[in-house]
Amino acid sequence: MATQNELKRLAAQKATQWVPEGEYIGVGTGSTVQFFIEALAQSGKQIKGAVSTSHGTSEALKRFGIPEILLSEVHGLSVYVDGADEVNHLLQMIKGGGGALLNEKIVASAAEQFICIADESKYVARLGRFPLPVEVIPNARSLVARQMVKLGGQPDLRLNFTSDNGHQILDVSGLLIDEPIKMEDTINAIPGVVDNGLFAHRPADLLVLARQGGVEILRAQV
Ligand code: 5RP
Repeated sequence: MATQNELKRLAAQKATQWVPEGEYIGVGTGSTVQFFIEALAQSGKQIKGAVSTSHGTSEALKRFGIPEILLSEVHGLSVYVDGADEVNHLLQMIKGGGGALLNEKIVASAAEQFICIADESKYVARLGRFPLPVEVIPNARSLVARQMVKLGGQPDLRLNFTSDNGHQILDVSGLLIDEPIKMEDTINAIPGVVDNGLFAHRPADLLVLARQGGVEILRAQV
């Protein structure tokens, strides 16, 4: 039986086939993405450069000799590749377990195609078992936490953590996320919230899902 890391690596390797040569791509954050960066370097594919979403990803790009470019220096990205904490049949996701959700949402929005890479444990019938990361302005932390309780959640401040953009994260468990787009909007309308880890407005276009039986390619089932 393959381990979770072996499945992550398989999904990451498979995803390199959607990387176009000679273009700029966006790269997310997390352990699956680390496997992807390694696989991309080993594939020998030549891209013009990659937009990074975190310090960790930038370090990996450098380690594998993949040129980094700033989002402000490109007009758009053909492909964005990233992992997820949960993904449903509409390819809506919860992200932000690694704390990079804000940069991830920004860079993903610039891409024509979002490719999600994941092992089978991430594929869920309903989003919400994984605590939803909500990035907040530190001053507004308690205010936002009280609003999250009103929405039915239990917020926990992520300890000893500051995002790359200088914010804090509340990990909110217990939310009933029957309507992910509505929940994404409701939370983002609370003053002091910078963004939340629901990627429902901008779901993935393709899910490369590594299962024990092999790698599956899924598109949104509407
Ligand atoms: C980081 C993320 C990651 O994509 C998510 O946490 C999945 O991580 P991993 O690939 O390590 O399981 O959203 O902010």
